[in-house]
Amino acid sequence: MPLMNGLTLALSKGRILEESLPMLEAIGIAPAGDIDRLLRVPSQRADVSLVMIRPADVPTYVEHGAADLGIVGKDVLMEHQFDQGGSELYEPLDIGIAQCRMSVAAVRGYVAPRGRRLRIATKYPEIARRFYAARGEQVEIIKLYGSMELAPLVGLADQIVDLVATGNTLRANGLVEIEKICDISSRLVVNKASMKMKHAAIQALIDAFRAADASRNRS
Ligand code: ATP
Ligand code: PRP
Repeated sequence: MPLMNGLTLALSKGRILEESLPMLEAIGIAPAGDIDRLLRVPSQRADVSLVMIRPADVPTYVEHGAADLGIVGKDVLMEHQFDQGGSELYEPLDIGIAQCRMSVAAVRGYVAPRGRRLRIATKYPEIARRFYAARGEQVEIIKLYGSMELAPLVGLADQIVDLVATGNTLRANGLVEIEKICDISSRLVVNKASMKMKHAAIQALIDAFRAADASRNRS
């Protein structure tokens, strides 16, 4: 259970955890333990404890109050919200790390097939479904868990919906970005009950993240 008198912050393991470390340092809540092995780690502050979670599970932990706050990509958050038909979370702050975009891509020289639905491979079926539906296109969504770039190369899909940052992965695989769907960055999310019950402590942490983001942008 989360700390009664303190705060539990859920961190997305992987890229977001790595990119958030300088910010956690600046705020004074960096992990004070082995983040490669431990799933619960104390922070430098006695009243803040950290839990390390797969990115896709962070919204669930925070919604259920197993963590008071979390850091998660907007991609994961949107997919979760569309899938659940809403969410029991506040999203008070864009902390500006892990910046990328969600885009549609296909093989270079791609021509849309005639006479059948487009096949779209993605880790984000709900985001993709809404994107194509808004354009009036009926598509077949193929859910994958990684390496989306392979799907068009082996005939599994016509297009992919995936994250793009430098574009290096697309280029290396002979793919091109066709259209950006939206910009993505990491967000601070807060459990609704915690926001009421622990308002002062949570507001102070939100303010600290905002200040750390602003000072990083200045430097
Ligand atoms: P899992 O390991 O659970 O499958 P994952 O592989 O999606 O998750 P990461 O690759 O660490 O996990 O990505 C975590 C988050 O970082 C994504 O949800 C997205 O918000 C952001 N992200 C992903 N790829 C990039 C990128 N190339 N550049 C910047 N940010 C990215
Ligand atoms: C992400 C994303 C793309 C790549 C884009 O994958 O799924 O494959 O980054 O970044 P780029 O435009 O700078 O090449 P990641 O490296 O996180 O690997 P994973 O999805 O397989 O975990």
